[in-house]
Amino acid sequence: MTDQKCLSIILAAGDGTRMKSREPKVLNRIAGLEMINHVVLAANGAGQSDLAIVVGRDAEIIQQAVAPLAPDAEMFVQKERQGTAHAVLAARGAIARGYDTVLVMFGDSPLIDPVSLTEARSRIARGAAVVVMGFHTADPGGYGRLITDGGQLIAIREHKDASEAERLITFCNGGLMAISGAKLLEMLDLIGNDNAKGEYYLTDIVEIARKQGELVVAMETEGENLLGVNTRAELAGVEAIWQERRRKECMLNGVTLIDPGTVYFSHDTEIGADTTIEPNVFFGTGVKIAGKARIRAFSHLEGTLVGEGAEVGPFARLRPGADLRANAKVGNFCEIKKATIHTGAKVNHLSYIGDANVGAGANIGAGTITCNYDGYAKHVTDIGENSFIGSNSSLIAPVKIGAGSYVASGSVVTDDVGPEDLAIGRARQVNKKGLAARLRARLSGQARKK
Ligand code: UD1
Ligand code: CA
Repeated sequence: MTDQKCLSIILAAGDGTRMKSREPKVLNRIAGLEMINHVVLAANGAGQSDLAIVVGRDAEIIQQAVAPLAPDAEMFVQKERQGTAHAVLAARGAIARGYDTVLVMFGDSPLIDPVSLTEARSRIARGAAVVVMGFHTADPGGYGRLITDGGQLIAIREHKDASEAERLITFCNGGLMAISGAKLLEMLDLIGNDNAKGEYYLTDIVEIARKQGELVVAMETEGENLLGVNTRAELAGVEAIWQERRRKECMLNGVTLIDPGTVYFSHDTEIGADTTIEPNVFFGTGVKIAGKARIRAFSHLEGTLVGEGAEVGPFARLRPGADLRANAKVGNFCEIKKATIHTGAKVNHLSYIGDANVGAGANIGAGTITCNYDGYAKHVTDIGENSFIGSNSSLIAPVKIGAGSYVASGSVVTDDVGPEDLAIGRARQVNKKGLAARLRARLSGQARKK
């Protein structure tokens, strides 16, 4: 089948009115990835040759959003919304190039899986002219009904056009189709708009194909995979399904989730076997975690690498560019940004480490802050291996702390520290003998006068 040419058409011209937003609906995210890109991933997974996207407006914004996954996607604008067949025809220029199979998908149905798409393609390869993805549901609501006869698909009736008897049918049109490329344009041109909505329905292609003696197939698919998103509540519902699936997959791959329902993944989160994730952890995009690590409760990670055996949290915030090497430790209430914490180094309490390099085996005391920003530019702090930074130190970047050195607690470090040196950057303490009693007398006298 791989030598078969396949065009994927993603319909995304809907206004998304019910999202109550000015943004294109298909750019709303599931697991940190735009809905349309979930569909692109599925289409790529099904081995498409080319991709066409039909939009109503915002073509440029949508093209930019899909570019990382589909740099060659071709955009078509459907100026007026006149139905799903009309939308597919907007991509006439692409279809006319000639394909064995055309897959029609919806940009707002992000759970579609490559396995179903591949199966639909293979049915076209085996001789069907139209393959419709259907599902059974107890609540067929506004879906088009699949009218079958002894395993044959006869017609699809839109809810608004259906008779009382037809509305009792629970086998529904998921909306996604595979169609023989050779016949598609000819069949589309025969579709009219004589129906309840006055639209050109893609679903009419079923009856047209049958009239031409073609084989039409309804392919049953997991209903969840065909869910469409029209409201933000549905967006959250699809997100919940996605997360639930991912949690299971993660555990099957050898990751321990103590309370799975409280852990949130991104589409690209990678976690190695024998890592444990404690409750209430959020993974933003771009996180990779090696095996045997531990992410403790209430941590938030994005754009971060965590090495084998490393420990994070509880209550840690790892921001883009955080790179924790093997057995590194970042403890409670620490924030790490664009900084490498080398093997076995420890940042255990209440620190901010940004634009920095922390050498292997270094120990960063509680409350250490890299002062990396002067209001205009960011500067680097380089901390040598096996050095010891005393608690509550401020490291004013750019600054270098040599390997094996000591920085005394409470220091404000403005100058580089040499290897093996001791830096004390604070005022010397003065003790005044017996002065406490006099101070008390003075302060209480002042308080009485008020
Ligand atoms: C469609 C199907 C219905 C099926 C349901 C599944 C038709 C006629 N009906 O109904 O049988 O049960 O999907 O969810 O196909 N779009 C455009 N341009 C248009 C019209 C639609 O790009 O002119 C896009 C929309 O953005 C959307 C998709 O096509 O992504 C489906 O359109 P929608 O209006 O939601 O179709 P339904 O009425 O839900
Ligand atoms: Ca819909």
